[in-house]
Amino acid sequence: MQRTSRLGILFAVASVGFLLAGFLLLGLPGLHTVSAAGTTQKQVGWIAYNGGKDNAHYSPLTQITPENVSQLKQVWRFDAGASGGLQTNPLVVDGTLYAYTTALQVVALNAATGEKQWSFDSGITAPQPSRGFSWWSDGRKKRLYAFIMNYVYALNPEDGKPIPSFGEQGRIDLRKDLGVEEFQGLPVVATAPGVIFHNLLIVGFRTAETKPAARGDIRAYDVKTGKLQWSFHTIPHPGESGYETWPAGAWQKAGAANNWSGMALDEKRGIVYVPTGSAASDFYGADRAGKNLYANTLLALDAATGKLLWHFQGVHHDIWDRDFPSPPTLLTVVHEGKKIDAIAQPTKQGFLFVLDRVTGKPVFPIEERRFPTSDVEGETTSPTQPVSTMPAPYARQELTESILSTRTPAVHEQVLKEFRAMKGAGLFVPMSLNKQTIVFPGFDGGAEWGGSAVTPAGVLILNANDIPWTGGLTKAKADASPGETVYQSQCAFCHGKERKGDPPEFPSLVDIGGRLSEREIEQRIHGGSGRMPSFPGLTGERLRALLGYLTGTEDTKSPGAGRELASKGVDEAPYQFTGYRKFQDKDGYPAVQPPWGTLNAIDLNTGKYLWRVPLGEYPELVKQGMPNTGSEGYGGPVVTAGGVVFIGATIYDRKLRAFDARTGKLLWSAELPYAGTATPATYSVNGKQYVVIAASGARDKSGPQGAAYIAFALP
Ligand code: HEC
Repeated sequence: MQRTSRLGILFAVASVGFLLAGFLLLGLPGLHTVSAAGTTQKQVGWIAYNGGKDNAHYSPLTQITPENVSQLKQVWRFDAGASGGLQTNPLVVDGTLYAYTTALQVVALNAATGEKQWSFDSGITAPQPSRGFSWWSDGRKKRLYAFIMNYVYALNPEDGKPIPSFGEQGRIDLRKDLGVEEFQGLPVVATAPGVIFHNLLIVGFRTAETKPAARGDIRAYDVKTGKLQWSFHTIPHPGESGYETWPAGAWQKAGAANNWSGMALDEKRGIVYVPTGSAASDFYGADRAGKNLYANTLLALDAATGKLLWHFQGVHHDIWDRDFPSPPTLLTVVHEGKKIDAIAQPTKQGFLFVLDRVTGKPVFPIEERRFPTSDVEGETTSPTQPVSTMPAPYARQELTESILSTRTPAVHEQVLKEFRAMKGAGLFVPMSLNKQTIVFPGFDGGAEWGGSAVTPAGVLILNANDIPWTGGLTKAKADASPGETVYQSQCAFCHGKERKGDPPEFPSLVDIGGRLSEREIEQRIHGGSGRMPSFPGLTGERLRALLGYLTGTEDTKSPGAGRELASKGVDEAPYQFTGYRKFQDKDGYPAVQPPWGTLNAIDLNTGKYLWRVPLGEYPELVKQGMPNTGSEGYGGPVVTAGGVVFIGATIYDRKLRAFDARTGKLLWSAELPYAGTATPATYSVNGKQYVVIAASGARDKSGPQGAAYIAFALP
């Protein structure tokens, strides 16, 4: 937070790093000319998800600077759907920008004008967002890999046509090769793109939070043929290391521990870094007693073979849904006089874990500390959890009466009363029965899928949410009808035990039959939508019972029939999660005092913060004299050699902002038509630098609905 002369030095180092980076980049696709001065950086692409396989969210471009950024103007707009969400970080190669529409069509746009060159429609409907693409080239041939629900398509970037020799007529089905014969029922969706290492495409996927969920194998496919080359079992099979961290045989029924957030690659060393999420079911782990390796783990795998090199587990036996939420960022720091190639992994709980990326050893000490034990029958919590001692957490980790909202006296009284009826305040407090436990930072972090940017000098830029959520457990009803049993085990998670949800994020399903036809409900169930995962395995008798229950037309009310159904594959856990809930005041604002969202710059050479500012506002609170509260955000930052940080992310004020990378000073902002809940990209075409961001209305249903890519440049 202090501005010292050391910053000047850091930035001098940054520029040298940039020059070197510029020369090293020569010869990569998307980059024709790079000059030391930066002014003739004619054609600099954004050639991988998050700017590069190191996930640095960094561009060597220097045309836009802190001095001139205030002159940025919108230069084109491409509309990408009337409703729905976009979370895409587009790819830019040789002056063409590749993006998705909300319906998951792939479009190629002239990156300078936004004019459409081609589009590809896979014919798949009811989509969930897809965050990016992978690009492969051997210097002659080029391939664009698009991630559409459970499929990966290999497209010809010239015309958008699938390459028939890849997989089955141009695509591979990620539900296959997971060791499950009836693969059609597996909930498997590619939300983040894979990484390319030589001729391998390495991928993860999103799956269900409840059982049955797919086991989160990490897989590598041949970029040309689509043939599986290796597979790493994140839930170890008998004989594999880590098997002993589960009950014997549990692997067959276990699921998840998947990589949904993306990966990073050290191309030179051939190491792929894969952060995983929690095991299913998220909140009750009696059937998975043990540490549950390799769930919630940062894996360092030999990219050529899939062999495990080292691992670091961020949460042991997770029962809080503390997935590693974003791909890690690779960087180089100087620590105690020594240069270390490091890796920084953000978390939902507010820790940034910084490790030596060759050895996996912590750069700053990580301690195992004791946390409370569970009082729920069958649950055995881990006695300790890893705590990063440096840098300091980038979100508050303990909710106390002294930081509860004081927005109005009435609000304070209300949230104080609710707070006193809840359990927990700090980290890793296990959920109890029939009482809400505070989860702070909330289920959406801390950090989320946007991840972090880093300068060549080792300054990491990270946005974070800073609001409390709550969760709890309840005993499964023994006399539930079949439909209710399915609902409680698969849907109550988000739509709540009483079907009331937690609007607006998690819609109420009370009287849903009056708003949607059974067919429409079925489409939602099988396809998912936004943050709702798909349930393709819910078919036949179970689907009929569920639809009947939701629409009030279920006829089987015989007590215990639900349990019978449970024995046919529904999650049989005796305790169930009561639903994701934000801890908010009566007007829908967070129950804690601001900041509710922040942007942070941390010097990872020292572990100290350089600056930290609130990010985002509620326009109506600004009018009431409450500006700069910060707000929830999704999508990460970008940092440039020109010294500018670009970030959208904020939901309610719908802005793209530019900050001075050295000081955190807000330099410029533009209002977008919809919220820029995606990571921007920056690139140059014919010597002109552009900044583009995907904007969409899905996160704030009360705001304007639509979706577009908006590009800015200097006049
Ligand atoms: C992980 C959280 C989650 C789970 C589990 C989940 N949903 Fe959803 N559901 C959502 C969210 C979020 C939305 C809103 C999606 C959007 O806006 O695109 C939604 C939307 C819906 C809708 C549309 C509601 C409307 O008003 O348009 C239906 C119907 C629905 N869900 C049914 C189900 C059923 C049935 C299940 C269980 C099989 C289920 N959901 C499980 C999160 C979830």
